[in-house]
Amino acid sequence: MNTQIWIVDFGSQYTQLIARKTRELGYSSKIYTFDQAEKLIDEGHSPQSLVLSGGPQSIFEDDSDFSKFFRNEKLPILGICYGMQIISNFFNGTVEKGVLGEYGKTKVSMLNNSIIDSPEKFNVWMSHFDHVTKVPEKFEILIKSEHDLIAGINSIDRPIWGLQFHPEVEHTEFGKELLQRFFSDVAKMTPEWNENTMLEEATSIVKQSIGKYVLCAFSGGVDSLVAASIADKIIGDKLYCIFVDNGLLRPQDYNHIKVLQNETKLNIEIINAKDIFLNKLDGIDDPEEKRKIIGKTFIDVFENKVHELEDNNKIKFSYLLQGTLYPDVIESISPHKDGGKSVTIKSHHNVGGLPENLKLELLEPLRYFFKDEVRVIGEQIGLKYSWVHRHPFPGPGLGVRILGSVTELAIKCVGKSDQILFEELNNFHLYQSTWQAFTVFLPIKTVGVKGDGRAYEHVICLRLVNSVDGMTATWTDMPREFLDKVSSRITNEVEHITRVVYDITSKPPGTIEWE
Ligand code: XMP
Repeated sequence: MNTQIWIVDFGSQYTQLIARKTRELGYSSKIYTFDQAEKLIDEGHSPQSLVLSGGPQSIFEDDSDFSKFFRNEKLPILGICYGMQIISNFFNGTVEKGVLGEYGKTKVSMLNNSIIDSPEKFNVWMSHFDHVTKVPEKFEILIKSEHDLIAGINSIDRPIWGLQFHPEVEHTEFGKELLQRFFSDVAKMTPEWNENTMLEEATSIVKQSIGKYVLCAFSGGVDSLVAASIADKIIGDKLYCIFVDNGLLRPQDYNHIKVLQNETKLNIEIINAKDIFLNKLDGIDDPEEKRKIIGKTFIDVFENKVHELEDNNKIKFSYLLQGTLYPDVIESISPHKDGGKSVTIKSHHNVGGLPENLKLELLEPLRYFFKDEVRVIGEQIGLKYSWVHRHPFPGPGLGVRILGSVTELAIKCVGKSDQILFEELNNFHLYQSTWQAFTVFLPIKTVGVKGDGRAYEHVICLRLVNSVDGMTATWTDMPREFLDKVSSRITNEVEHITRVVYDITSKPPGTIEWE
């Protein structure tokens, strides 16, 4: 399908939220860098609407030529924050360097109260220094801030709006209503984005591999399961899913793979590589070194298996299927390489850097979706609710949850504790009220009393967090009775553990995992 809304990214930290919000309203949207959008226009493409995002720069230091965006007089354009200043500047309004600036919550009022049904004044999220002091000719003021600054403008003869604040963030009251007004009434668009069109989009990506053999490094997590299930419906037995058992799994992860093997049509092969991994990790306690060893060993084991499959079956794999999501795609765009203006690139810590010398082309059916959309697609193709709503589990597994060197004893302790944590999350019906929950084995000993004797044994930490995408997180405030039950079961039922602690660190400054 043709993407309805192009969002040109000028580096705002909220650009992804614009994509999410427009999709929630039922419109398909994609984020492009300035250069990518210009190139698409040059090639003769056009969206139904264009959004110019916010960004950290000042119009006074940006000499880019924006004329291509404004050439088509019928194209609806919404400028947000920096985007509104681009619009004003382009149409010869006046933008001035701010002396005060407006940041955070600010009250605004609509000058035209037929646009949305809102109180006279409402709160919005501002983040700007420069501001528009005189609207361009044939524009009018739509919204003013409590400091009497121009907070919103609209063209009187073209479908163009500028908003100085961020309608896409939760702190902005009536933000969604304003977006809805713009896209439905000004841009006159019809919602086209729903579970069927999402599935179509993912399916069209897989179709390019028809007739070829496809490999999937299968983890059993939501993303690889949904990606593989979509591919399975199209290419069937030409899809081979490989699950590497690195010995760093919790019992529930291994059981989950067994369930998927039995209950789905996927062709999943489990490789038992426990001994290889544990031998390589023996005596290593530096977190980075452990991650690197796990990553490298994964690649070696995977590569050997691929050669074996190709030799035994006389086939040649052409594609590597991965469950890459849209946030990863957006963040991996280099601002300098691709002409984007964003300055923040997050480094990824995935173990899945797969063998380059296999020369496989990537097949990424989920590359345009956010996690919650992947879950909707998963349910749409008939996967069980509990499978698509599973908590995330990191690639290096218990390797990053056993602090210090990985031992059989620690694997047993943390595996058993985790099992208890999950049993109780289910008993208390709390599994879905936390984004991720796990236990960590601490390599210290503390004194306790077990039975009638003195104990000098290990500590388990409970880590439960709330998050949207894992980038930031807060610790989950769980009911006391639940924590009490988990703690008492772990100290009673898990040998070698005498103490349980609860991690109350948010991210930042902590990370979700301990290593
Ligand atoms: P951190 O610890 O960075 O974790 O706050 C954020 C989210 O990512 C998961 N995680 C990983 N996932 N490979 C993965 O596939 C990794 O190396 C890795 N490290 C962390 C973590 O469980 C959390 O959900």
